[in-house]
Amino acid sequence: METTVQKKRILSGIQPSGNLTLGSYLGAIKNWAALADEYDCYYMMADMHTITVRQVPADLRRNTLTQLAAYIASGLDPEKNVLFVQSHVPAHAQLGWVLDCYTMFGELSRMTQFKDKSAKNADNINAGLFTYPALMAGDILLYQADLVPVGGDQKQHVEICRDIANRFNGIYGETFKIPEPYIPKVGARVMSLTSPENKMSKSDKDPNGCVYMLEKPEDIMRKFKKAVTDSEACVRYDIANKPGVSNLMQIYAVSTGKTFEEIEAEFAGRGYGDFKKAVGESVVEMLRPIREETERLLADKAYLETIYRSGAERASRVADRTVSKVYKKVGFLAR
Ligand code: TYM
Repeated sequence: METTVQKKRILSGIQPSGNLTLGSYLGAIKNWAALADEYDCYYMMADMHTITVRQVPADLRRNTLTQLAAYIASGLDPEKNVLFVQSHVPAHAQLGWVLDCYTMFGELSRMTQFKDKSAKNADNINAGLFTYPALMAGDILLYQADLVPVGGDQKQHVEICRDIANRFNGIYGETFKIPEPYIPKVGARVMSLTSPENKMSKSDKDPNGCVYMLEKPEDIMRKFKKAVTDSEACVRYDIANKPGVSNLMQIYAVSTGKTFEEIEAEFAGRGYGDFKKAVGESVVEMLRPIREETERLLADKAYLETIYRSGAERASRVADRTVSKVYKKVGFLAR
């Protein structure tokens, strides 16, 4: 008799809060595509997380659809990967509420992203921004995910997810699989091109600090040519003393597959001008097919609609099972 081994499961997501950045591509999406054969993968557009910061509704809708097109264009085959919009699967809101009641004020107060975001949005420090890690824990636990591929900045949120799951399992018995974060060795923390001590982020005040996945080649090149380096004029990896050059080396390493030693040898005795041009070109070439395919897919809204509809159905089948189990455990009367 044939035995089928249950594949391990992955869940991850990105907020459609603006244009996708080179950081989210290198820290997350690029690794997702490589995992599809080995794992049973669920990738979402985390639109419910996005409204923790005020959005223009039409932009949120457009960004959500563009993000789906970019996922597919980055190599996520919608047959092999379940691609869905978070708000299309009501189980996220359902489990999110339950987990709010098993997440402590003190632990949420320690989240560095909450501290950062509340400083940046001082006029809108809403309850959702504060409890966001409980919603994110629900996203992961609904699918009984084994692995959560994210950039380094999300590690703390995966850790609190594990704590919440362990707490719940401790009270009610085995309910949730305890997930592991999966963080790339290189590319986990892409820094701003103009202030390399800060993470590259779409909320960067300086438009030259952040490169977008779907940006025009000439704009990408201009940003890399302006990237901040140092006065040593030597391409050498040294995060503490040469954050700008080290960041560019990381980006170049991931986009070309070269090691730091190979990069140092390639640019020995050459100026930063050559180096920055080469990094820019490698990023342009890595992103070019993705941008072109995203544009092609965006012209076919009917196709994208079939993908997110079927994604929501497939995701709901798994997620609803977890919600039923949890509702029963906490003592909700069966309908
Ligand atoms: P978000 O939307 O801020 O970022 C999406 C993904 O990109 C990674 N990332 C980076 N990696 C390297 N360098 C950077 N500069 C950089 N900027 C972003 C992030 O680590 C992340 O992996 N809360 C999440 C979205 C989310 C989620 C989830 C993730 C919601 N539910 C469940 C995993 C599982 C977020 O805001 O990511």
